[in-house]
Amino acid sequence: MRTRSPDHGSSGRQRTASLDYDLRVEQEIETYQRELIDNSADGLVAAPAVWSIVEGLLARRIEAVTGCAGGVAVVAHELDQRDAPMFLSLGAGTCALEVNAIIPATKRPTTCTLECLDFNPETIAVGRGAAAERGVDFVGTVMDVNRLRLEENRYDVVLAWAALHHFVELDHIAREINKGLKPDGVFITMDICSRNGFVLWPENERVVDAFWQRLPKSHRYARTLGAEPQYCDRYPNVDCSLTGFECIRSEDVLPSLRRHLDEVHFVPAHALARRFFDTMFGGNFDLGRPFDLQFFLEVMIADELAIARQELRPDTFFAVYRKRVAAG
Ligand SMILES: C[S@@+](CC[C@H](N)C(=O)[O-])C[C@H]1O[C@@H](n2cnc3c(N)ncnc32)[C@H](O)[C@@H]1O
Repeated sequence: MRTRSPDHGSSGRQRTASLDYDLRVEQEIETYQRELIDNSADGLVAAPAVWSIVEGLLARRIEAVTGCAGGVAVVAHELDQRDAPMFLSLGAGTCALEVNAIIPATKRPTTCTLECLDFNPETIAVGRGAAAERGVDFVGTVMDVNRLRLEENRYDVVLAWAALHHFVELDHIAREINKGLKPDGVFITMDICSRNGFVLWPENERVVDAFWQRLPKSHRYARTLGAEPQYCDRYPNVDCSLTGFECIRSEDVLPSLRRHLDEVHFVPAHALARRFFDTMFGGNFDLGRPFDLQFFLEVMIADELAIARQELRPDTFFAVYRKRVAAG
């Protein structure tokens, strides 16, 4: 999943614990104008090279569980099971993943109708342009997903990719997704399930701190805390939900989904990896250097083992749900 480390207020605005909703919306729109349009070559969040390797490893784990080679392949496979599928994406940003990766990976790309929702008018406009270029049947709607209202039994596949952890009304949204799915429809998500604000759980923090002690100074520069790289003597375990909607209720994402939909596949990941290798610190690593490679391998092995043994909590998950027909 191409996501950047949660934003810690690099726009320089004052951070307060009680930013009102409209101001958060404004900041969120500003952030993703920057991340998905101004600073992006392909409409997705730019990620360090090491993060692509982490994502590749997760794709293998998804394959082991679902039989499809990664999250994109799972969505394409589900679309392929239906004639003229109705495909909805929530918090779709520029719709680049849907238009440029998922739909081209299907066997009959022109039969699909793609509906994308986001409250950012600029990113939806980019999606509309890309869909027109590729001949994708597209409906882009600028709306607040927290106020989602879906037509009953309309969608074959609903997707939320790196988006649920930005939403506030999680129970309402999960209920609407369940309502909007056709009886054999599926909801697919790749998302963040960390502690709220992307703050580390105490047990994860102990392990992150131990690995952090081994990092040379050169690897302790955060790339997303401000305009310039910032030196961090310790891992900066700060609450990133104080501005915008980053991880605003991330620890409630899974419980809400499980209350309203039936889980088919669940792949937990990244108890540690995201803290070292995605956008905040990942740019400090070059796996061509012996220390970096050794450190990377040790973190990844510790991460996989801790997740498998349920000793640490995942920051990321991939999951597939089906409609709960008798939902209350
Ligand atoms: C991390 S980006 C993910 C974008 C896209 N799914 C991707 O993977 O590239 C989160 C997206 O959710 C959108 N978003 C956040 N809260 C929203 C809300 N309440 N309603 C609609 N869109 C929202 C943001 O504007 C942003 O485009």
